[in-house]
Amino acid sequence: GNKVSVGLLGLGVVGSGVIKIIESHQEKLMHQLGCEVQVKSVLVRNPEKQRDVNTDRTFLTTNPDDVLNDPEIDVIVEVMGGIDEARQHILNAFKAKKHVVTANKDLVALHGKELQNAASQNKCDFYYEASVAGGIPILRGITDGLSSDRIQQVMGIVNGTTNYILTKMDNEGMSYEDALKEAQELGFAEADPTADVGGLDAARKMAILGRLAFSTDVDLEDVEVSGIKNIALEDLQYGNQLGYTMKLIGNANFSNQQLEVEVQPTLLSKEHPLSDVKNEYNAVYVYGEAVGETMFYGPGAGSLPTATAIVSDVVALIKNMLLGVTGNQFVEPYFKKELKTPAE
Ligand code: NDP
Ligand code: HSE
Repeated sequence: GNKVSVGLLGLGVVGSGVIKIIESHQEKLMHQLGCEVQVKSVLVRNPEKQRDVNTDRTFLTTNPDDVLNDPEIDVIVEVMGGIDEARQHILNAFKAKKHVVTANKDLVALHGKELQNAASQNKCDFYYEASVAGGIPILRGITDGLSSDRIQQVMGIVNGTTNYILTKMDNEGMSYEDALKEAQELGFAEADPTADVGGLDAARKMAILGRLAFSTDVDLEDVEVSGIKNIALEDLQYGNQLGYTMKLIGNANFSNQQLEVEVQPTLLSKEHPLSDVKNEYNAVYVYGEAVGETMFYGPGAGSLPTATAIVSDVVALIKNMLLGVTGNQFVEPYFKKELKTPAE
């Protein structure tokens, strides 16, 4: 037809951005797809809540069936967060033969394989570009752009909240608590920021990156994690005097058929390109055997950047729909999992 209807699960920081981009970039979407894209209905907790987005043309509901079982809806965008409910909704969406886009790294890190299998069984697409590094097209960079190379290392700043906190403490002497509060107000932090500051959010993203970059299974338990909760202002200032900047760094190294993945606060020399990545910005360094060094940089969190990745996923899967194919990001493991954790 000349219209594709999208159903949203969630209308918070990211969901509002999705509606804004679909509305304001309609011409660009129409040009690429030859059809209109419309957000038909949205699952929320509270339909009465004041929203900073125009919902005149959208039906707000608290009943998941209104979205998941609407025969007019072809594409579901999951931006509600959480694990169990979101997982069930996505499985139901695949059963109803709907394609799914999600920004939910918690879910993809834990249940990515199950969801991917459910998508394949139902001949549906499952895309999750926004789940890692917000607006940076890093998953496509790895699975498309570098698909012919053998990647050896992926290293980066993949959590916006902690990078925002460390930047504000380091550059402005702001307290940890005030910087965290600002990151929450700006919409970068998770509803419960424990996973951000504890390094688990970055670990989830490194697990997803590791799977795609090295075509192997990576479980969350395989990732060695420590966060920034115990970093004091004095530590940063001392590092500064010596010419170093503290960053929360995720690192995945593949050598001799062994993968090592870890997330930890790291002192970087000020000459290191990652030491210059500030505020909610993320950057991912990827080293490939043939290509050498590459670097992907951009906003790692926030409403419109994250929504850009989501709507681009929607565009990709509508293109697939029009061609009658599916084109999933996930690659079947190529290497047998042989993980070595740094603790061993
Ligand atoms: P918010 O908390 O801002 O929004 C969540 C939305 O989902 C709200 O609209 C809420 O409804 C709705 N919702 C939550 N739980 C339920 C439920 N059980 N039933 C019905 N509706 C529900 O979250 P964000 O937009 O910040 O994040 C969404 C997802 O995107 C998360 O997975 C997050 O990790 C991911 N993400 C976020 C980024 C960011 O910068 N914020 C960047 C990249 C990924 P109501 O409005 O009525 O309360
Ligand atoms: N809370 C996450 C962050 C959102 O700060 O990076 C983006 O995934």
